[in-house]
Amino acid sequence: METVTLANGTKMPLVGTGTNTYGKVENQYKGDLNNDFRALESAIKAGYRLIDTAIYYRNEAGVGQTIKDSGIAREEFYLTTKIPEIEEYIGSKEIVEQALLKSLENLQTDYIDLYLIHQPIEDKKTLKRTWQVLESFVDAGKIKSIGVSNFSIRLLEEMKVYTKIQPAVNQIESNPSNWNNELIDYLKNQLIIPEAWGPLSRVTEEQRAKLTTIGDKYGKNWGQVLLRYQIQRKVVVIPKSHNIQRQLSNLELFDFNLSTGDIQIIETL
Ligand SMILES: NC(=O)c1ccc[n+]([C@@H]2O[C@H](COP(=O)([O-])OP(=O)(O)OC[C@H]3O[C@@H](n4cnc5c(N)ncnc54)[C@H](OP(=O)(O)O)[C@@H]3O)[C@@H](O)[C@H]2O)c1
Repeated sequence: METVTLANGTKMPLVGTGTNTYGKVENQYKGDLNNDFRALESAIKAGYRLIDTAIYYRNEAGVGQTIKDSGIAREEFYLTTKIPEIEEYIGSKEIVEQALLKSLENLQTDYIDLYLIHQPIEDKKTLKRTWQVLESFVDAGKIKSIGVSNFSIRLLEEMKVYTKIQPAVNQIESNPSNWNNELIDYLKNQLIIPEAWGPLSRVTEEQRAKLTTIGDKYGKNWGQVLLRYQIQRKVVVIPKSHNIQRQLSNLELFDFNLSTGDIQIIETL
């Protein structure tokens, strides 16, 4: 698996799997937990090692157990989780610490590769306090890298005043309905790695047809073209599927290169 190097020198796989509907009734995000992690099992068998979960997904413990049951060494994986932006998890320094410790326990590990703040925290003091707890966990070796999700340029600029460790990653939506290019350009300038959530979402029939035409030239499907576009421009992707064929397909991205002409078509989809 090809990687990108974060500002702190650690390496992150360019492709991972989302998990936000894993372990849930009818694969629904808000569905009750049913402890059915076969989709994650097959993703791991397919070769995914970057696993993206979150406290909001309620499935950290099942994700942790599935990883453990895979029998694959912990160091082979790149585990990401996220703290919600709500009072219940960020109400005080101690509450943040408890939430982070609980993630470590749920994931059955003594370190987490990447810990993100899931959504912008608008209260400046609370954001600063939360970030400083994350920094203290890096100092203690319990978290390797810290970052944010859905943060704007403004918020990232505001954080600069107090960050000892700058955010390594910003996980944001990026797909043909919302490439988020202004933000991605800014992140690259700041040496913050952009990571795309929903990379295969919100693709219209027309866009899909154009991507399919491009894919035909390379023997690839529309999803592979879209994911290749992102990783070729060094945007990490975390596609999620409950279907083993699509899980495999979404990993087969490293044996072709999109031409400049095809990239131009994708940029203007
Ligand atoms: N930070 C945030 O705020 C945030 C927000 C949303 C998501 N996320 C993270 O990002 C991950 C990915 O986002 P997502 O799950 O919303 O969307 P996605 O990866 O874009 O997938 C959307 C849907 O596309 C289908 N799909 C997958 N591969 C396909 C392929 N090759 N061809 C056709 N269809 C395909 C899947 O359905 P099937 O199961 O039927 O294949 C899936 O439900 C999430 O799981 C989560 O970990 C983060």
